[in-house]
Amino acid sequence: MRLNLFPTLLSLEICAGIVSAAYLNDARSLQPRRKTSMLIDPAAQPDLPTITAATAAANAFDLNLSDIQGDILIGMKKKKELFFFFGISNATDFKKKLKSIVLPLVTNTAQLLDVSAQPQTALNIAFSQTGLSALNVTDQLNDSPFSGGQLQDIANLNDPGTTNWVPEFVGTNIHGVILLASDTLASRKYIPFKGQPGQATRRATNASILAAEITHCVNGFVDFGYLDGISNPAVQGFQSPLPGQAVVPAGEILLGEDGDDVSRPAWAKDGSFLVFRQLKQLVPEFNKFLTDNPIRAPALTAQEGSELLGARMIGRWKSVRCEYYDLQTPLTVDFMDRGAPVFLAPLVDDPVLGADPTRNNNFTYGAPGQTTGTSSATDQSKCPFSAHIRKTRPRADLGLPESSSSNHHIVRGGIPYGPEVTADEAASNATEIERGLAFVSYQSNIGNGFQFLQRFWADNTRFIHSGVGFDPIIGANQGAPRVVTGLDLTNVSRPITLTTGKLVL
Ligand SMILES: *[C@@H]1O[C@H](CO)[C@@H](O)[C@H](O)[C@H]1NC(C)=O
Ligand SMILES: *[C@@H]1O[C@H](CO)[C@@H](O)[C@H](O)[C@H]1NC(C)=O
Ligand SMILES: *[C@@H]1O[C@H](CO)[C@@H](O)[C@H](O)[C@H]1NC(C)=O
Ligand SMILES: *[C@@H]1O[C@H](CO)[C@@H](O)[C@H](O)[C@H]1NC(C)=O
Ligand SMILES: *[C@@H]1O[C@H](CO)[C@@H](O)[C@H](O)[C@H]1NC(C)=O
Ligand SMILES: *[C@@H]1O[C@H](CO)[C@@H](O)[C@H](O)[C@H]1NC(C)=O
Ligand SMILES: *[C@@H]1O[C@H](CO)[C@@H](O)[C@H](O)[C@H]1NC(C)=O
Repeated sequence: MRLNLFPTLLSLEICAGIVSAAYLNDARSLQPRRKTSMLIDPAAQPDLPTITAATAAANAFDLNLSDIQGDILIGMKKKKELFFFFGISNATDFKKKLKSIVLPLVTNTAQLLDVSAQPQTALNIAFSQTGLSALNVTDQLNDSPFSGGQLQDIANLNDPGTTNWVPEFVGTNIHGVILLASDTLASRKYIPFKGQPGQATRRATNASILAAEITHCVNGFVDFGYLDGISNPAVQGFQSPLPGQAVVPAGEILLGEDGDDVSRPAWAKDGSFLVFRQLKQLVPEFNKFLTDNPIRAPALTAQEGSELLGARMIGRWKSVRCEYYDLQTPLTVDFMDRGAPVFLAPLVDDPVLGADPTRNNNFTYGAPGQTTGTSSATDQSKCPFSAHIRKTRPRADLGLPESSSSNHHIVRGGIPYGPEVTADEAASNATEIERGLAFVSYQSNIGNGFQFLQRFWADNTRFIHSGVGFDPIIGANQGAPRVVTGLDLTNVSRPITLTTGKLVL
């Protein structure tokens, strides 16, 4: 019998290059100042550095925080976000408007860290290779997944062709994306094209003014559900690491900084490659799968066994959720890392640990106190080798200290999209309204970053050991069922088959 089902995804898009803020004028005067930060500060995530601390760190590493677009290092910290994918219709005109209208509005890292300098609505912009070409930018960025575009990378990513792609992303007409982020619903009202305040932002995104067509729009918000980003690395020159947090040289995320050894045009310095995937999530179906397949460990109720199965798929419990909202019908599962790691809380959730950023990341998969060598090649009692957070950041599985064994880190900056599961959907176990994750990652090298994680780790059934199978959350097998081991605590050899698409019994 095929067990079933789940996940998620597929449908995606472009790899876009972020333009360096070096192009930008300082246009703070165009935007209202704030008294309270637009960014969220979830207990479970590492705090952002203060502007003073970040400036000191940046000075020590010769990093210019005003030259780095705000989303890149800060990722995930916004409540509402809109993604406007655009196609340029008149390049000459667009170029002029880009300079006069858009660039003055681009929000940099220093501005985002300083509440008094934050705009009402933050704006970042990224271009795809076809967008750069449309603008006659012929400089080579020297990243082949970027220049080829994600459509060409489809086989490497194990997508089932473009069947599940958002149609707008099949082709070459997406020239770039404008990201708009804000905090309140009131602010969000004027992010799109109508409403009273926020004239400047409105102008920047008015397609006809910009000589560009909006080809696709994704509306993300963290009104419900869980937060991502616990596992983001600490970038040198930006923040100090918490226990267990990976430390990466700035050049692993930013072009032209220490650790980025590829030749880049000068203007690309401090930019980053943005990878976007619109990952649809079948939440009611996934919940049913968990309900139907509890881990039958002694002393666990069926419900606890179901929760354990979900936690072992991800590698973390769903203990931590966004505390900013009244949740009427909380999502019972999502597919992001969050909460207490099963490695530290193997059988039952530990929400106190999950909410403590000095502890919720403080593990290596090695033995307590182990600082060199690799983790056990057989013990999956605490965490399966296939767990999503283990596949995508293997820590001691690849050897300690971690920094010497991997340059495959990304900053995750995505956000959920779509409405909460309705009572009707929950009762019928069937998704009726699309929802999911607007996945964003930043890295200076897509082949070492997102593409590597997907291709050589998540989709590699022999990583980190033979027989492990796919990452149950983001693993892709060209649409075919995915076999995963390690999930069943009572028999880690037992394969569990996850199918995408329709529930198969
Ligand atoms: C930092 O970057 C900003 C924006 O590109 C630029 O205006 C400024 O001159 C830079 N500062 C230094 C010290 O290079
Ligand atoms: C791009 O280059 C072509 C050929 O030189 C020129 O005709 C066109 O106007 C240029 N477009 C822009 C947007 O600069
Ligand atoms: C593009 O816009 C410019 C104005 O900036 C205009 O002169 C030109 O005719 C437009 N080109 C096309 C093909 O519409
Ligand atoms: C967009 O720009 C056009 C042309 O300037 C203008 O007529 C229209 O009112 C603008 N729309 C919005 C929503 O700002
Ligand atoms: C992190 O883990 C190490 C080793 O397990 C331990 O010695 C240390 O006290 C932990 N740090 C915190 C803040 O809990
Ligand atoms: C939904 O799934 C649960 C768990 O398998 C099951 O008990 C229930 O009958 C299903 N509801 C429908 C309408 O199929
Ligand atoms: C564990 O699962 C494997 C693979 O399905 C099976 O061959 C083996 O008999 C199982 N072991 C036990 C103790 O059930």
